[in-house]
Amino acid sequence: MALARDEVLPAPVIERPMHADDVAAVGILERASYQFPWSEPIFHDCLRVGYVCRVLEAGDRIVGYGIASMGAGEAHILNLCVAESLRGRGVARRLLLSLLKRAERAGQHWAFLEVRPSNEPALRLYRDLGFVEVGRRRDYYQAVGGREDAIVCRLALGGAELLDPEN
Ligand SMILES: CC(C)(COP(=O)(O)OP(=O)(O)OC[C@H]1O[C@@H](n2cnc3c(N)ncnc32)[C@H](O)[C@@H]1OP(=O)(O)O)[C@@H](O)C(=O)NCCC(=O)NCCS
Repeated sequence: MALARDEVLPAPVIERPMHADDVAAVGILERASYQFPWSEPIFHDCLRVGYVCRVLEAGDRIVGYGIASMGAGEAHILNLCVAESLRGRGVARRLLLSLLKRAERAGQHWAFLEVRPSNEPALRLYRDLGFVEVGRRRDYYQAVGGREDAIVCRLALGGAELLDPEN
């Protein structure tokens, strides 16, 4: 059952590393959240190659996850997802800030991500955190009835804007 926006969360939301035995639950959330979801083997590959893979857990439920690759001075945010019932409460913002801080601590200088122009909640969040559009990949995404561009966004890491006392 979906929570109303002002309802109290059923349990504290805890962030922890993703493990292989989380992938089935992550896959369920992925398929509920995207029209063109990643398959479960993609999540296993992310774990196998050592990407930063984090889950959010409330009680015994996986309610979100974030995945980033890091190296050569760049972090790439590859997936960020929160259960529909918990959206609009700053949960994704907290998770993304956590990924960005991990990237900073690992010595990366830039964070990149791709987003559909139609994904307004995600775009608002990214812009609010200081990401700026630096390019477009034409027809990058599969879409209903055709293809959709990707907006490529970039954020400079190491700046004071990430020093949020709540995180
Ligand atoms: C995009 C996504 C991750 C955002 O998750 P979220 O947890 O809802 O995001 P946040 O709550 O951190 O921020 C979204 C909005 O909630 C608002 N918000 C934050 N805390 C809040 C609170 N305590 N009460 C009310 N609203 C709040 C934010 O200000 C923001 O508002 P805005 O839309 O007016 O800017 C989520 O919509 C999602 O999982 N979508 C499906 C997967 C997806 O598209 N992922 C991104 C791929 S690029």
